Amino acid sequence: MEKFNIAVLPGDGIGPEIVAEAVRVLKAIGKKFKADFILKEAPVGGASIDAHGVPLTDEVLKLALGSDAVLLGAVGGPKWEGLDYSIRPERALLALRKELGLFANLRPARIYKVLIDASTLKPEVIEGVDLMVVRELTGGLYFGTPKGVEKLPDGTERGVNTMVYTTPEIERIAKVGFEVARKRRKKLLSVDKANVLETTELWRKVVTRMGKDYPDVELSHMYVDNCSMQLIRNPKQFDVIVTENTFGDILSDEASMLTGSIGMLPSASLGSTKNRAMYEPIHGSAPDIAGKGIANPIATILSVAMMLNYSFDMTEAASLIEKAVESVLDKGLRTADIYQPGTKKVTCREMGEAILGEMK
Ligand code: IPM
Ligand code: MG
Repeated sequence: MEKFNIAVLPGDGIGPEIVAEAVRVLKAIGKKFKADFILKEAPVGGASIDAHGVPLTDEVLKLALGSDAVLLGAVGGPKWEGLDYSIRPERALLALRKELGLFANLRPARIYKVLIDASTLKPEVIEGVDLMVVRELTGGLYFGTPKGVEKLPDGTERGVNTMVYTTPEIERIAKVGFEVARKRRKKLLSVDKANVLETTELWRKVVTRMGKDYPDVELSHMYVDNCSMQLIRNPKQFDVIVTENTFGDILSDEASMLTGSIGMLPSASLGSTKNRAMYEPIHGSAPDIAGKGIANPIATILSVAMMLNYSFDMTEAASLIEKAVESVLDKGLRTADIYQPGTKKVTCREMGEAILGEMK
């Protein structure tokens, strides 16, 4: 039996509820496909601050580094918002990304036919949308230095963040973009702000140069402001979008709303070796609904499917989960975020149950 070590980090807010359902799915897959998933659970983010005073302990970082994959729920909440930036829950996420070298964040946005009316956009605009945002995850504004807020002699303050990218950083994420495109519809759009920001002028130059090595992939470029507009105007034009960290953060939230709910979108964050991978829903900890049992576990369950695909090469198991999700949606089961009159509203647990049931 193949053995896989998985660090399970539920985090805060709805994190524990949605991760519990995803873990049940993972265990069922282990049984069915005879894989030995060794799960080790630990607190991160606010939960870790409450228990240990810091958002990510050395122990938990070690656990993540020693695992084949990490499954993460969500971090953060109003309780910890007053804390200094250096010890906020979000730091745990950023530190995990940095320390594990997870530079490539894959965020697929796909429309489920039965959910078309759950989107705020017109059905004819979104029907058939199937795109992937490849977001650079360990560079740019999030990590660039200098950064911080300083007091000036006149009593005012000055805040600084730095958007920085080196050629190798651009090359490795562009490579992921080209390769993902190659396995899909072979269209890669690189998003930048090359008309204003020098860093992204370099980005465009490097991606353009690399395009010559991928003659089978149709490469184009777009400014980020135009892209955010085009995503709403005509999202079907997109296949794979590769972009820097902050632009990717924003565009992937926007892309998620094409699908009706951010509660549906999984993600994979990958490093340069197979055992460097973290899977998480793209949504946050949703403190307003935490503990009520009404969160949508689908994004996290689909993140497990991505884990099976990318980390464990268990493609059959992954598609079993994806199909199960589709069938429960076809049967009209909806958590509150995707509920519409005429469908059946279910809790987080009931949704997990139903997906498990379909997998049998
Ligand atoms: C995301 C989130 C994170 C980010 C936050 C929670 C730090 O918004 O994964 O998109 O900004 O990257
Ligand atoms: Mg985000």
